[in-house]
Amino acid sequence: MSLERFTLVVARLHNQKALFATDVGSGLVSRPKTLPCRYFYDEEGSALFEEICKLPEYYPTRTEREILEVRAGEIVALVASPLTLVELGSGSAEKTRLLIESILGRQATLRYIPIDISQDALKQSSQRLVEDYRRIEIDAIAGDYQEGLGRLPMASDGTRLILWLGSNVGNFHRDEAAKMLRRVAAKMGERDRLLVGIDLRKNRQILEPAYDDSQGVTARFNLNLLARINHELGGRFDLSTFHHRAVYDENIGRIEMYLVSDRAQQVHIDALGMDVSFAAGEAIHTEDSYKYSPAEIDALAEAAGLAVAGQWFDQRRWFSETMFVHQCARLP
Ligand code: TRP
Repeated sequence: MSLERFTLVVARLHNQKALFATDVGSGLVSRPKTLPCRYFYDEEGSALFEEICKLPEYYPTRTEREILEVRAGEIVALVASPLTLVELGSGSAEKTRLLIESILGRQATLRYIPIDISQDALKQSSQRLVEDYRRIEIDAIAGDYQEGLGRLPMASDGTRLILWLGSNVGNFHRDEAAKMLRRVAAKMGERDRLLVGIDLRKNRQILEPAYDDSQGVTARFNLNLLARINHELGGRFDLSTFHHRAVYDENIGRIEMYLVSDRAQQVHIDALGMDVSFAAGEAIHTEDSYKYSPAEIDALAEAAGLAVAGQWFDQRRWFSETMFVHQCARLP
């Protein structure tokens, strides 16, 4: 299959395997133990995440799609035409299609720049997009957010709409999220717009099952981190001796995810020449997913030097799309 209208650059700043080893080593000697969530998305992890998005309990994907289905036209209308579309963490880019269709309704061609840590996800999603949209041209960047943003030109003559969907912002601590938005803002000109999908605070009875589903897909996704250490670093984790745990801290407004050792044990990791000891019930912290109130979204904007130019919710007010602009930019 030819990939006309598609280019991919690999924007790697570091040796990936060495970095993985260093991060795993330092995470597992920390107290409490941690593993960075960026390593969830190997080929298996990306596939499991797509499965998570289809789970009945995992409402964010479906709810965000619902907002975009209703509001794509309004959202796109707030950005000057013609625009270039940029996306941080594009994944399968399924929801992006709703915006792409709106944009192609008012301009002849579209340049789309997806940035994703998973090269496989980029290739697959881009191939499907160029097949389905004759008027799209894709310049993909494989790398993490920092690496991807590093490859984006500073504000250009054209207008850009930058997407950061899926409540991926929620996987940063609140102050880190503001810093990340500042980094994006530094790449934005006055006419550029940033659209961020942010999950909202809600009842624990809805939140916890979304991150601990009855079919155990989220558990497999979390445990895949240990499988990855086994494959790539010669780890000896016995996956049947760890279980997934997701708890909502209502005060902080975040889901915390852990891998818990069912028993006291030592696990050897060849590539690190290291034995990791676990007490029975000891947890490795693998990810947080912060939830926001509308006031917390305003505070996030303020902390990032951005202003809110538009905001959309679903009927139940479970999820939000917020459009940000530079504070100094003139609103339409
Ligand atoms: N950005 C997603 C979220 O916070 C990531 C995610 C969904 C996730 N389900 C997960 C991460 C389960 C770890 C485990 O909702």
